[in-house]
Amino acid sequence: MYQGKEGQYAKIIGTGGYLPEKILTNADIEKIVDTNDEWIVERTGIKQRHIAGENESTCDMAEHAARQALEMAQCQPEDIDLIILATTTPDRIYPSTACLLQERLGCIGAPAFDVQAVCSGFVYALTIAEKFIKTGSAKRALVVGAETYSRILDWKDRGTCVLFGDGAGAVVLEASAEPGIFSTHLHADGRHKDILTVGGQVNQGEIVGSGFTVMNGTEVFKFAVTQLSKVVKEALAENNMQADEIDWFIPHQANMRIISATAKKLHFPMEKVVTTVSEHGNTSAASVPLALNIAVRDGRVKKGQTLLLEAIGGGFTWGAVLLKF
Ligand code: UT7
Repeated sequence: MYQGKEGQYAKIIGTGGYLPEKILTNADIEKIVDTNDEWIVERTGIKQRHIAGENESTCDMAEHAARQALEMAQCQPEDIDLIILATTTPDRIYPSTACLLQERLGCIGAPAFDVQAVCSGFVYALTIAEKFIKTGSAKRALVVGAETYSRILDWKDRGTCVLFGDGAGAVVLEASAEPGIFSTHLHADGRHKDILTVGGQVNQGEIVGSGFTVMNGTEVFKFAVTQLSKVVKEALAENNMQADEIDWFIPHQANMRIISATAKKLHFPMEKVVTTVSEHGNTSAASVPLALNIAVRDGRVKKGQTLLLEAIGGGFTWGAVLLKF
């Protein structure tokens, strides 16, 4: 394993994203469950979501996003010495999707593992990768969030199936004397395990319990707004920063109402908030890197700007990362 200098910053040098071709609009969902475009847009801001093709896997999407990020970073797969992949919907129970991705990319030998923190997965994975780089244990890390979330949705439950979508986002991090990630902040509270869960398990070759997402939307909503505001304040305080020093706020894309309520509490004007939820729905671990990648590629996020990323998901897990891009 690479043994470099300690105390280096982890700097994002490439981003990538992938969305499956198939789009499911609210009008399409009206044909599946008793819902309507007006309700979905008013309560969530979501207009459409992408859905993985029948033969398209989490690893397929992760590979597209990873290759794009590697290209922007001008890196070859063999330059990568760590792969962390965040997903709730792995291709297999094991090996990890990170190992499947490693084989596809050809960075054989680099440690590769999955992180399961549901919608906070990318923020967790980014945090772990940053620690590897900071301690000199990795020089270049590939961090991916990828989900085929549509496969763990009950398409008869209008309370959940309208909310989620599929996709993948990725970043390449490199050890650098220049900042870099300034600070990371992770939290979890397992007492809230039942308000957002897929409760089933595989036993003797069968799923015992539910294989579908079950959610208490109202509880999740309240918990999300409270904890996200707290963790963002924690990140700002740690860096002696005010909200107006952040160039772009890139929140988890679960629901427009959660995003705007959090931004309002924190005094971030909506012009400084990157939102993709209307087009992507909630892509779980892929939502933050996908939003980052879109804002980088359309020119909003520029080199040297200060970004604040946050996410919250089942567990409950939540976290924030404050960085210079
Ligand atoms: O990463 C975290 C992932 N999860 C989330 O971010 C979800 C957080 N929660 C939410 O975003 C909101 O709670 C929802 C969007 C899920 C629901 O909005 P709400 O304003 O909390 O609605 P509600 O659950 O209180 O339901 C209000 C009504 C109910 O009907 P009644 O009992 O008042 O007659 C629901 O049955 O809306 C009904 N409803 C729907 N109607 C049309 C629930 N889902 C739908 C639907 N279409 N898709």
